[in-house]
Amino acid sequence: MTQDSDDDRYIDEETWEKLVETASQVRKNAHVPYSSFPVGAAILTASCEVVAGCNVEIASIGATVCAERTAIGCAIAQGHRDIRALCVITDVDPPSAPCGICRQVLAEFCDNLPILLINPQGNRRFTTLDELLPMRFSGRDFVE
Ligand code: THU
Repeated sequence: MTQDSDDDRYIDEETWEKLVETASQVRKNAHVPYSSFPVGAAILTASCEVVAGCNVEIASIGATVCAERTAIGCAIAQGHRDIRALCVITDVDPPSAPCGICRQVLAEFCDNLPILLINPQGNRRFTTLDELLPMRFSGRDFVE
């Protein structure tokens, strides 16, 4: 996904930095007693709101919710159904990408998505949902 400044979906540097800052801050709230692997996520909505999420681990491990899905849940609850960008921060190098379940959940609320993966050391990887989840199943496959 190339960034064309004439495109109304263009995301400027300042907005990306806001997402980076939000994801970094919310990561501190992650509830990670089992993995000690805190993750922070920040979503940019179509109306330019930034919505944050962190991972929430549960003793019954399958009930754990990833940071990306926490952020999406908050965005939906706040009435935002169109996601424009995502930033995820993990403390690994290279910074890790969303898991398969989160990729599918992200696909529910956007066509494609620019995604910035970062770590506290300042390393960054830019990707897209199309790159992470090509030829995906979607509601279009069975809803007219
Ligand atoms: N995790 C996320 O928050 N996002 C991902 O995309 C991958 C994994 C969390 C879940 C769990 O709390 C911890 O990272 C280790 O898997």
